Amino acid sequence: MLNNKLNKNLRVASSHPLGAMTAEEAYLWEKLDLTRLPRHVAVIMDGNGRWAQKRHLPRIAGHRAGTQSARITIETCARLKVEALTLYAFSVENWRRPKSEIDFLMALLREYLRKEMPLLQKNNIRMRFLGRIDELPAGVQNDVRDAMEKTAGNKGMELCVALNYGGRAEIVDAMNAILSERNGHGTSPKITEEQLSRHLYTEGLPDPDLLIRTSGEMRVSNFLLWQIAYAEIFVTETLWPDFNRARLLEALLEYQKRERRYGGIGEGEPSDEKPARAAGH
Ligand code: FPP
Repeated sequence: MLNNKLNKNLRVASSHPLGAMTAEEAYLWEKLDLTRLPRHVAVIMDGNGRWAQKRHLPRIAGHRAGTQSARITIETCARLKVEALTLYAFSVENWRRPKSEIDFLMALLREYLRKEMPLLQKNNIRMRFLGRIDELPAGVQNDVRDAMEKTAGNKGMELCVALNYGGRAEIVDAMNAILSERNGHGTSPKITEEQLSRHLYTEGLPDPDLLIRTSGEMRVSNFLLWQIAYAEIFVTETLWPDFNRARLLEALLEYQKRERRYGGIGEGEPSDEKPARAAGH
């Protein structure tokens, strides 16, 4: 753990990839192996309501505070050259919330896309939205399309916002897309994993290596069900609005401690034999 005597607010000024850092961030950064970062980080941003409740504020104040954590996470991952970051902003189940909260979340997202466009452009970020976007209010659909168009030429990190997203809905949508492609064609009745992957909203993206969930709940909440098959899961008690750059660096460090086996045996474990079968067979 970080020495308590260390001044957390001390700023380390430099031409560092992350810009000016606190002493705590610099301490964590030193331990990070930049050659072993996850290619794709996915985040369940939970705990906005509880953060607000603790401060006797309305829930929407927690959502607004959460946009700051989104900004920090997006900018840091882009600077670390993570290939893809997926943020779970609104699930298909979130329609069960009070209308006023839903309206606020939609307005907040639109405001965010407008306000953060310079940050996205500066960091060469390309935007993508995962979910049943055609079911969203027309204004949100317009802004979503606009954000994708404006950033389409960027070659850096892909920022995916899961919006009106459900993992089961995504698999159902992929299956229906495959069926409609097949209509009238006498193709094989067997669907392969590769074919299904190609029809998911995440087509072309690597599967998440790291799934972060804030605020302590041990669930995956219908998020990227297919894609997180081998993701390392990091759950922190930190509420999303308190999730800052140091907490993100801690999650990345924890990821680097994990041994990824994909159902095989550990790399250090002796075996003279070749694998009995190729993976997935
Ligand atoms: C979960 O907290 C959070 C959400 C449902 C919304 C997440 C949205 C944002 C952080 C807004 C901005 C998003 C982007 C991509 C800019 P909760 O309300 O379920 O919290 P609780 O479990 O404590 O009630």
